[in-house]
Amino acid sequence: MLFRFLNLLIFYSLAAQVVSDDPYNCAGTQTINPPVDTTKSWFYPANWNDTLPTPQFAGNQNCVWTINVPKGWFASWTVTSNTRSSVIKMTDSTGYVTTLTVASEDLYFLMDPSFKVELQASDVGQLGMQVTWTQVNPKLYPSTSKVHQNSLPLSLFGGDFDNSTVITADTQVSLLAFPSNILDFLPYLRVTQVYDGDSINAKHVGNLYQIMDSRTNFVSSGKSLTLFSLFPGLNTHNLVLLQDYSDVKQFKSYQPIYCVLPINCAASLNATQGNAAAIRYWPTFYITRIDMATDNKLSVYNGYLGDAHKLTDYTSANSKTDLPQKFNGKFTVFVLDKGTATIMFSGNPQSANWTAGFDGRNGFLASANYGLMSKEQSLTDQIFSSSLSDITYSFNSASLLGNATLTVLIKDGQKVSQDNTYTASGAKSGTVTSTGTSLTVMYETSGTVTSGPYVRFTFVKHNSAIGSGILLAVGISLWRMLAI
Ligand SMILES: *[C@@H]1O[C@H](CO)[C@@H](O)[C@H](O)[C@H]1NC(C)=O
Ligand SMILES: *[C@@H]1O[C@H](CO)[C@@H](O)[C@H](O)[C@H]1NC(C)=O
Ligand SMILES: *[C@@H]1O[C@H](CO)[C@@H](O)[C@H](O)[C@H]1NC(C)=O
Ligand SMILES: *[C@@H]1O[C@H](CO)[C@@H](O)[C@H](O)[C@H]1NC(C)=O
Ligand SMILES: *[C@@H]1O[C@H](CO)[C@@H](O)[C@H](O)[C@H]1NC(C)=O
Repeated sequence: MLFRFLNLLIFYSLAAQVVSDDPYNCAGTQTINPPVDTTKSWFYPANWNDTLPTPQFAGNQNCVWTINVPKGWFASWTVTSNTRSSVIKMTDSTGYVTTLTVASEDLYFLMDPSFKVELQASDVGQLGMQVTWTQVNPKLYPSTSKVHQNSLPLSLFGGDFDNSTVITADTQVSLLAFPSNILDFLPYLRVTQVYDGDSINAKHVGNLYQIMDSRTNFVSSGKSLTLFSLFPGLNTHNLVLLQDYSDVKQFKSYQPIYCVLPINCAASLNATQGNAAAIRYWPTFYITRIDMATDNKLSVYNGYLGDAHKLTDYTSANSKTDLPQKFNGKFTVFVLDKGTATIMFSGNPQSANWTAGFDGRNGFLASANYGLMSKEQSLTDQIFSSSLSDITYSFNSASLLGNATLTVLIKDGQKVSQDNTYTASGAKSGTVTSTGTSLTVMYETSGTVTSGPYVRFTFVKHNSAIGSGILLAVGISLWRMLAI
């Protein structure tokens, strides 16, 4: 959306320039070879360069340029264009087609043996291009990484692939490409090439931009995959997630979630063909709304799929009461079982109303590594209500191991109504309800490896009819527990 908008802006500013010289004729089919002196670029039209205004082409002509790239070299293609109904198409060596309308010194990195630029001019437009050939670094020291089944994804970033990186999996490698947080860096995803095998001599299948643009994962045909950035030193910080294919094989579709505007963003999942999954990476975010049909179920996992790290299930019914919800894990995985769903995100606790304990609110508090055995499981969080509430919580006892402690406080203003500390040797489970205006949860592992805390909570306005109903239910369940 934003890109389109920027493109339109560029279109209008370029459209104003469409006047100047006589439009050129581009003369049929041409084959372009690198010059003997490769420090020199090839320009089209020949008398044009990027310090001059973009040249105009005449209407009613078709032209094709086949630009050869020798093995061991790559070509940088810089293109500026502006068309209305004329079509400019570029086909790279893998057969991937890019159609251009408005381009302003857009940069592409192209591999051997050749790429093709086609102009189908129905009316006057603008096209100017430059190609520079560069030798691929002949002295690489490839690094290697492994991904395993039932594991967290491996996260690597643009800037990690300058010496080439070979990723090996137990089964096959699944690759998801995210854009850089800095929009200006987006075209540089084209610098990182993807090879379906264990070196840059394996089959070249495209670049990270193309994989990101596909909005799904690329899966290697064998156990390994190689990433290689043609220009060293370009730290574009775009995220790449690598996983063993067996961890994502069950997904009919699998997409990266990223937010260009972190405050307000949405993701849509479409499971009409089978379960649809999406993954989001740090930092902490909040879900503020989920729109989906009544019988769909959206399950959320911390890290990767598995009952041990499932965070929650949303249905259209509980999404009304169980949101906003905070997610603080490094990787959060969403799986929709059927139909479609739209998830609204916020990056900001204030705009998400995260700490607001309004009447009827449910939610959970979990550590960033919940469900993953770790010493790093600390959690501190608070929810406040503006009026007196019946606050109920329950927690998982599995995290109470060794020296780990869970403390839960319910306070009415400054007055403590419940102050409970749970340890491995003390009380281990149960549901507690008390009246107050705030809930505070703190957990520390104190050096013990645990699966982390998970505390569910409910706020109900005190004395409301619904409140006494829930209190009664809680009372009965407590009574039943004690009676056993
Ligand atoms: C661009 O072309 C113009 C006109 O031919 C020439 O004067 C100028 O030196 C060229 N600039 C570069 C950077 O090659
Ligand atoms: C590639 O690795 C070698 C050896 O570790 C190192 O000297 C060189 O700087 C690296 N090149 C790049 C582009 O990072
Ligand atoms: C979901 O996918 C199906 C099949 O690909 C398509 O027909 C449908 O329009 C999609 N729905 C939405 C809301 O995108
Ligand atoms: C947060 O609360 C305010 C006031 O109650 C409300 O207007 C706003 O819509 C809420 N925001 C979200 C994302 O629920
Ligand atoms: C737990 O606490 C005891 C007593 O303070 C200490 O000796 C022990 O090393 C602690 N365990 C861990 C895993 O830190």
